[in-house]
Amino acid sequence: MKATIILLPGDGIGPEVVDEARRVLDAVAARFGHSFTYAERAIGGIAIDQTGTALPRETLTACREADAILLGAVGGPKWDDPAAKVRPEQGLLGLRKELGLWANLRPVAPFAALADCSPLRPERLVGVDVMVIRELTGGLYFGQPRLRETVDGVRRAVDTLEYNEIEVARVVTLAFELARGRKKRVTSIDKANVLESSRLWRQVAIEVGAKYPDVALDHQLVDSAAMRLVTAPASFDVVVTENMFGDILTDEASVLAGSLGLLPSASLGDSKCGVYEPIHGSAPDIAGKGIANPIGTILSAAMLLRHSLGLTSEAAAIEAAVAATIDAGVRTADIAQGGAAASTSAMGAAIRERLAAGAA
Ligand code: IPM
Ligand code: MG
Repeated sequence: MKATIILLPGDGIGPEVVDEARRVLDAVAARFGHSFTYAERAIGGIAIDQTGTALPRETLTACREADAILLGAVGGPKWDDPAAKVRPEQGLLGLRKELGLWANLRPVAPFAALADCSPLRPERLVGVDVMVIRELTGGLYFGQPRLRETVDGVRRAVDTLEYNEIEVARVVTLAFELARGRKKRVTSIDKANVLESSRLWRQVAIEVGAKYPDVALDHQLVDSAAMRLVTAPASFDVVVTENMFGDILTDEASVLAGSLGLLPSASLGDSKCGVYEPIHGSAPDIAGKGIANPIGTILSAAMLLRHSLGLTSEAAAIEAAVAATIDAGVRTADIAQGGAAASTSAMGAAIRERLAAGAA
């Protein structure tokens, strides 16, 4: 098949890891006879430097016309002034909102060979395979009013946590649909003992759940869910939750895998076109050194093939090549445990070698 993929390398280690993932997509195209066309656009801090805005109109237009978008990371100390009016993160949040990407899929399935990299006891990791679905265009990130003001000499700030039933129902429905292809368990996470928005969330989750009698639904409060995620991670299958809870819980869940550098994500909406990105940030401390782990981005490219292009076997081939590379003992610095570490490009090459050989 033919597809147009927009590359948004962004800041920090973004360009390094996106480059490796693009080469992996090329290897897939060669092995399976597809033709992928790429176009690179600016987002985040680099876009601020070039155009004064984190999401240039030209980038957004290109993304709207694409079949899928692969993103690296945005942000860095250079643009971190809390008083700044333009921030790299606005690029990412703007892209999610403008493209209507209301669901963020963050799968966490630790590699057995990397159990030592996690601070958790290895026996706790047995059987862990969680799909977190984070609502992505609502809640505190976008609610209005949102302001800062000074009243009688006192500075105050307001953010608003708002959801309507349509926003909740569509993301919870997606959770049930995905659960059907998995272990048929959905955990909806909220703070219904305190928040009105969570009480609506829970009510809608129950209503949607009634249409899926074959899938078990349970509700957990976010505080105890945060604890259970590290004390009993294997008890989760599909998790669905609002935007900010999902942001926090997925960084927590990444410790199950052993490194933030391993985890992919997909941001999806009503159309086929999604944004795929590793869940790690721009990691300015290691940018440009060629030591970043490209696996999170490479696995994001696999999700891109699966969810935006419908190329299921190709996605599985990438995932198998990554697993085979890890099983063969190839390690970037973040997962080397003090042993010999491969560079970003050596890891990418090792994965492509197995992909081309059809190890998968
Ligand atoms: C994430 C990130 C972003 C978020 C930031 C960079 C705006 O933490 O994708 O999890 O909070 O959504
Ligand atoms: Mg985050």
